[in-house]
Amino acid sequence: IPSKLAATPPMGWSSWNKFAEHIDDKTVRAMADAMVSTGLRDAGYTYINIDDGWQGQRDANGVLHPNAKFPDMKALTDYVHAKGLKIGIYSSQGPRTCAGYEGSYGHVAQDAKSFADWGFDYLKYDLCSGEWFYADADTVKRSYHEMGAALQATGRQIIFSLCEYGRFDVGSWGRDVGGQLWRTTGDITDDYPTMAKIGFDKNGNPDHAGPHGWNDPDMLEIGNGGMSADEYRTHMTLWAMAAAPLMMGHDLRETSPETLAMLTNRRVIAIDQDARGVQGRAIRKQGDLEIWAKPLADGRVALALFNRGTQAASLGLTAADAGFSSISQVEDLWSGATGTDLPASYAVPARGAVMLVVQGR
Ligand code: GLA
Repeated sequence: IPSKLAATPPMGWSSWNKFAEHIDDKTVRAMADAMVSTGLRDAGYTYINIDDGWQGQRDANGVLHPNAKFPDMKALTDYVHAKGLKIGIYSSQGPRTCAGYEGSYGHVAQDAKSFADWGFDYLKYDLCSGEWFYADADTVKRSYHEMGAALQATGRQIIFSLCEYGRFDVGSWGRDVGGQLWRTTGDITDDYPTMAKIGFDKNGNPDHAGPHGWNDPDMLEIGNGGMSADEYRTHMTLWAMAAAPLMMGHDLRETSPETLAMLTNRRVIAIDQDARGVQGRAIRKQGDLEIWAKPLADGRVALALFNRGTQAASLGLTAADAGFSSISQVEDLWSGATGTDLPASYAVPARGAVMLVVQGR
């Protein structure tokens, strides 16, 4: 059955990048509160996702229970839902998760039922426990299909996020196993080289992305402090141009005004969430500079200019970069400035980005 979920890339928050295993019921509730009070929910961020570290033990019937940090999962999902948000959980198809907790191996249908009964709306499903990571393509696909089918059998609408690092060309079969998004790389970390390596070069084959099925270059690090403002702007611009899921990974209670402005820029979010669902790509490279284009549903084109170098640079764009013969309207998405033609050149800071939407004919 074709999925009705994730018509546009999922947006929300996940516990992993900031808290790793140090996550509990109280912190998840606090994130839901902050999602609302900051205005992030109203900007489109709706999922609050618990990553690894919530699991306890299985009982005599094989039912998996949360650990003591999560005393009542149903009460927690009710709390998050009451805020107008959705909530996600995490497991792995091997016997152990990546952080060594109980995985779903041998208990797939049982766990899917627990997740649905508890009220979860999203499952991130990892590929952990040594021998599983090294398994062959058929085994890996089968294990994802098993959980995808089990989630559908619950009757609850649950987004299925495949975390298998882009192995075996996952984009070509992620939808077939019931997935709405699939990781394309190993883990992001809060530094420019890792973020840039993923965002420029490992964000997956654009031909596989579109409504209800997205390449996932991993979660955002914006707000965690390891990159400069220009570098984080590049991070956000790359993810939006790539129609990537926007899963924040910082402590939402400590969102600075600058971070909030970056994460809630409505013009930038609209590019990520454009209904046409095209994953933008590099159309031109010139030394350290890259020009990306993403055609939009309304006929306009988003353009981004990236400077991967460590010196400020300037570069001109042409109507042809957007596939037009002439330009009639230009909007600079980060500054909000508008005009009727492209300027002779744009200044792009070191490791920075400029993002535009252009109209033309
Ligand atoms: C893997 C995933 C991460 C996170 C951890 C949890 O490394 O790629 O995103 O879920 O497992 O252990």
